[in-house]
Amino acid sequence: MSTYTEDQRKVTTHRLIEMKQRGEKIAMLTAYDYSMAKLIDAAGMDVILVGDSASNVMAGNMTTLPITLDQMIYHAKSVIKGVKRALVVCDLPFGSYQGNSKEALASAIRIMKESHAEAVKMEGGSEIRESIERILCAGIPVMGHLGLTPQSINKFGTYSVRAREEAEAQKLIEDAKMLEEIGCFALVLEKIPATLATKVAQLVSIPVIGIGAGGGVDGQVLVMHDMLGINKGFSPRFLRRYADLSAIVNDAVAHYIDDVKTQDFPNEKEQY
Ligand code: KIV
Repeated sequence: MSTYTEDQRKVTTHRLIEMKQRGEKIAMLTAYDYSMAKLIDAAGMDVILVGDSASNVMAGNMTTLPITLDQMIYHAKSVIKGVKRALVVCDLPFGSYQGNSKEALASAIRIMKESHAEAVKMEGGSEIRESIERILCAGIPVMGHLGLTPQSINKFGTYSVRAREEAEAQKLIEDAKMLEEIGCFALVLEKIPATLATKVAQLVSIPVIGIGAGGGVDGQVLVMHDMLGINKGFSPRFLRRYADLSAIVNDAVAHYIDDVKTQDFPNEKEQY
C-alpha cells in the first residue's frame, strides 16, 4: 500500500536531512513492542519513536512522568529487534536527564548500549542545552522536542496549544535555532499554531516533525495507539484515525468467547 517502500536502504539521521532538502515528507510513528514495530517497519515507516507515551498507552498512567529508564530500555530493546529499515529513536524519560549533564549522558549511553536504539529524543530548549551538548559530544544523535512537552505537564497545568503568545513563540524560535546550531539532527514540535511551526521549519535546516503543528513542517508523528483507534478516549483535533482496532479486537474477542462457550471451538480439525 505504501508508495515509499521501494527504497529499502536503512534510514539514517543524514538521510532524514536529505529528505528535508528534497522536500520529501518524513513519516514517524510510535511503537513499543517487537510485533507492532515489525509491522510498522515493513509498511515503510521512516522513523519509529519509542515514545515515553508508553507510560500512557502501555502502562495506563495519566502522564508520561512515571515511566523509568529501565522500562524505556525494555521497550526500545523489543522494538529494535523488529526493525530493519526505520530509524529508531528512544525518548529519554522524565528524571533521567534534567538533573545534570553527566546524569543525562549516563542515561543516553544506557539507552544506546542496552537497547541499541539509534538516537534519543529530549524535551526542552535552553534549559537543557548543556545536557544535549554533552550527549552529542559522545556521538549520540539527539532529536529535540519543543512546544507542548508532556513531561512538563505539571508546570503547564493543561495539554492545550502552546506558544500562542508572542513571548513563548519567540522563545520557541530561539530554542529551535539553538538546537540546530548545537547539532540536533531533527526536532519535534508538538501542539503549536501551524503558522509558527511552518516558520520554524523554514528557519532551520534540520527536519521538523510535527504533531498537532499543521502541514507546513517536514514530517508528521502520531502515537500508534491513537491513530489505529486502540485508544478511543483521546480525540484531539489533530488526530486522524486510520483504523478502528478497538472495534475489530472487541468483535474478535467476543466471537472467540462465544465459540468457547458454545463448544464450537476447538473443532475436530483444531485438535490432535
Ligand atoms: O512520547 C511520544 O509519543 C512523543 C510523541 C507524541 C512525539 O513524544
